Amino acid sequence: MSKNFVTGIQPSGRLTLGNYLGAIRNFVKLQEEKDYDEFFVFIADLHAITVSYNPSDLRQNIKKLAALYLACGLDPSKVTLFVQSEVHEHAEIGYLLQTISYIGELERMTQYKDKKVKQVEGVSSALLTYPVLMAGDILLYNAYAVPVGLDQKQHLELARTISERFNNKFGDLFNIPIPLIQKTGAKIMSLQDPTKKMSKSDPLEKASIYLDDSEDVIRKKIASAVTDSDGIIKYDEKNKPGISNLLAIMACCSGKSIQTLENEFKGAGYGEFKKAVANSVVEVIIPIQKKYEELLKNQDYLNKVLDDGAIKASYFAKKQLSKMKRKMGLERKK
Ligand code: TYM
Repeated sequence: MSKNFVTGIQPSGRLTLGNYLGAIRNFVKLQEEKDYDEFFVFIADLHAITVSYNPSDLRQNIKKLAALYLACGLDPSKVTLFVQSEVHEHAEIGYLLQTISYIGELERMTQYKDKKVKQVEGVSSALLTYPVLMAGDILLYNAYAVPVGLDQKQHLELARTISERFNNKFGDLFNIPIPLIQKTGAKIMSLQDPTKKMSKSDPLEKASIYLDDSEDVIRKKIASAVTDSDGIIKYDEKNKPGISNLLAIMACCSGKSIQTLENEFKGAGYGEFKKAVANSVVEVIIPIQKKYEELLKNQDYLNKVLDDGAIKASYFAKKQLSKMKRKMGLERKK
């Protein structure tokens, strides 16, 4: 069986350092390791419309995310980059899988429960079925593995359940996809409440470092990050979540282990440590911003990458969907 990787990010706003360290950086690493047959990385626009949004912002955010993927180092000659809604099989498989997904299991999803209470215009039924669409994204390419951050683990578990259920009901077709979650950086926390994940949708500006923040803003946000008062630079998620988060961020950005950093900053003050963390973040983000600005100006190139990506993804999606429909008793002529 082929070994495909699949992943996606929602174009739902400005991307954070969490998205980069927990996800995109890992996609680039996996791309270079080349331990896959096909690697599909898409812009999850169908997911972004499950909550209230502004259409013209969404259109811009789709292009921005495409430029960002490339600026971060994804290479269209190694991975297939595309926009989810341009491969209509995603919507179709999402519906087909809803027929074997249970409302109870969807209502138990943490992300659904969190987002549901934030909706002012009512909760769309698509917000409930969101994880089924996500399972569809994965099964459409018969993914072997799915690189994600820790917050997507529960959705991945549901995708595995749905995949197994389909195979048991209709006969073997899908791999049971495995999550690829890194050890360090899998859950970057808010700078203002380090017990909460850093999130694109956090209304508190200072809580997140955005990938388009200026150097000055990055330094200020890290300088004002919430820590503790015991003055020791040590990794201890439970008792020192703020310092542990900064250590994880610096470990990811500098390539040094947490242990090495603990030794390096033994006896140092938090002010000095925070400056070093900010330096490591700036060194990673600023070069990406320069490439990003260049790419955004080159719309023809971005369009070509996404057009080619959609053609290639459609080819795989069409074949897999046809096999699936056949097993379900659809596809009259096959
Ligand atoms: P999204 O857009 O919320 O996040 C994109 C990726 O970033 C990771 N991430 C983080 N990692 C570490 N620390 C954080 N604070 C942090 N915040 C976000 C996420 O885990 C994710 O990997 N449902 C998905 C998009 C999706 C998808 C898919 C992913 C749709 N279909 C199929 C994989 C396969 C989402 O909303 O990610």
